[in-house]
Amino acid sequence: MAAARDLRATGMAGPGDEDAVDLARRHLIQPWPFAGSVGEEARALIGEGDGIYITDSTGKRLIDGPAGMWCINIGHRREELAKVMYDQAMALSYNTPWYTMNAPSAELAMRIAGHAPGDLSHVFFTTGGSSAVETALRFMQFYNNVRGRPEKKLILSRGGAYHGSTYLSASLNGRPRDRDWMDGADELVVKLSSPDPFRRPKGMSLAAFTDGLIDEFRDTVARVGTERIGAFVGEPVQASGGVIVPPDGYLKRIREICRDNDILYISDEVVTAFGRLGHVFASGDVFGIDPDMITFAKGVTSGYFPLGGVIISERLLQELRRSNHPDAMFGHGLTYTSHPIGCAVALKNLDILEDSVLAHAREVAPYFQAQLKTLEELPLVGEVRGLGLMGCVECVADRESKDPLQLDKNVGKRIDAHCHELGLLVRPLINMCVMSPPLIISREQIDDMVRILREGISRTMDDLRKEGVWRG
Ligand SMILES: Cc1ncc(COP(=O)(O)O)c(C=O)c1O
Repeated sequence: MAAARDLRATGMAGPGDEDAVDLARRHLIQPWPFAGSVGEEARALIGEGDGIYITDSTGKRLIDGPAGMWCINIGHRREELAKVMYDQAMALSYNTPWYTMNAPSAELAMRIAGHAPGDLSHVFFTTGGSSAVETALRFMQFYNNVRGRPEKKLILSRGGAYHGSTYLSASLNGRPRDRDWMDGADELVVKLSSPDPFRRPKGMSLAAFTDGLIDEFRDTVARVGTERIGAFVGEPVQASGGVIVPPDGYLKRIREICRDNDILYISDEVVTAFGRLGHVFASGDVFGIDPDMITFAKGVTSGYFPLGGVIISERLLQELRRSNHPDAMFGHGLTYTSHPIGCAVALKNLDILEDSVLAHAREVAPYFQAQLKTLEELPLVGEVRGLGLMGCVECVADRESKDPLQLDKNVGKRIDAHCHELGLLVRPLINMCVMSPPLIISREQIDDMVRILREGISRTMDDLRKEGVWRG
């Protein structure tokens, strides 16, 4: 057998071959690349993490403002998690879930079900959030096939939604830039409006805005037909859409319409679960709803191991067991379903969350929100909003018209570049900066974070004025 070529030893890798940045430009494809630079792009190289901080390749220490991708909930460099990973790998690194099982996955399923609202009782583990949403949707399709309702498969989703990067989960995505150049199962998806109070028509009360959203939902169900709609999928707080916190009562009312019309309610808690809003799950504890399924990922292992899952209602499982097709098979499973290392890490992570981190997150969240809100003093900032330890600073060219588009659309990236200089990693989203730090962040660290963000926005305002792009 030929030995693998070490491209560093060939002309293909070129000079600077020890340099990760150089190697990435030659051999790595980054997620969400543009066609013009695909396979040639390097991003900020991160060497280390510790608590709420990461260190870049120049040695600069940065506050990890987005906690990775909303996932490093208990912070970086937790020895307990490293040790559990090692111990589990030495005990059992993998077993086939096709015809064997392991103890950590069974215990984790029990612990997760114990935190879930309503009659959610059973967990199917996946490798992340997209595969969790995909599993929930395929389960809905299977469920309706077994019930003899093969035409009941359409999925209701909303503008501003993000549900993943596999084919069906991505078909639900509502941010235009995610879909412009990508195909999807559009014939299966019906889109509704985002419940974004900031973008409601001028002069409209919040109550009237909420009623309008509910009317749209009800009218859509009536127009499309309950016999054709299988599920509604929604994030309790739209995360990547810009931390859109829905108006009070909105989710409860949608949940009721779904129940009345035999439409499964799938709550996508990939971001909001495992402490981001101060509880293991936000659906019940924050919003008072009991979905038919909840999807989760990210914070379940605080990002230390790729794991996700979907929790399914006992009622649905019983219906399947009692159906006329007890031998119909849910033809769905992943090599890494119920991975023993992932589940062992998640158990330890849950211990730490339950022990202190959930209470801490609930305690500091109001301070985090209040401090971020002070940024509304800056004329470039149209709104600061958020819930728990999720926040978003939305910049606008003009506060009256709330127009984000006259302005340089990369304003988020400009702010991020200044903040990077100053010691903070920001998640830029077009004209927005999303902040979701590790849940262990202290009040003093929140002060640091907001001080840097304020300075980053001020420097961006100066740049925009100098370039004549903005006259605020
Ligand atoms: C709400 C939501 N659902 C699903 C996903 C997809 O998760 P993953 O990237 O782990 O596949 C994400 C990712 O950010 C998300 O925010």
